[in-house]
Amino acid sequence: MRLSKEERGALIKAANEARKLAYAPYSHYPVGAALRTKSGRVFTGVNVENAVYPVTNCAERTAVFKAVSEGEQKFDVIAVVTDNGGSPCGACRQVLAEFGLDILVLIADGNGRLVKEMTVAELLPEAFTPEHLESRK
Ligand code: THU
Repeated sequence: MRLSKEERGALIKAANEARKLAYAPYSHYPVGAALRTKSGRVFTGVNVENAVYPVTNCAERTAVFKAVSEGEQKFDVIAVVTDNGGSPCGACRQVLAEFGLDILVLIADGNGRLVKEMTVAELLPEAFTPEHLESRK
């Protein structure tokens, strides 16, 4: 998928803006995501932590769940912004893989600098996908 420098910048900016809304009182590590659908809509997401730590929802999954719950299932790119350019966790890679191994992932830091760019397939090699369950229908 071809993405202009401006498009990359706009998504990273949206994710970084959203990051201000993160609920991260325990880790103090706010994360913002901006997921663009193939239809051109952008859904943002933030991490939402919990006093029961493992119940925390990551920014990427928040964005995916928001989009799916509003009728969107086709995505072409997600930008993820953290203070230091951290990369998506395993659970978020798996959730993204459900909707497409070719989704582009832009990883940026708190200054909006693009740190890394790769596909979900690259982030999660040999992913288990819906196709593996095809024969069971
Ligand atoms: N976090 C995300 O939101 N996305 C990731 O992919 C990595 C981790 C959040 C979860 C938790 O609230 C905080 O960052 C520290 O792990």
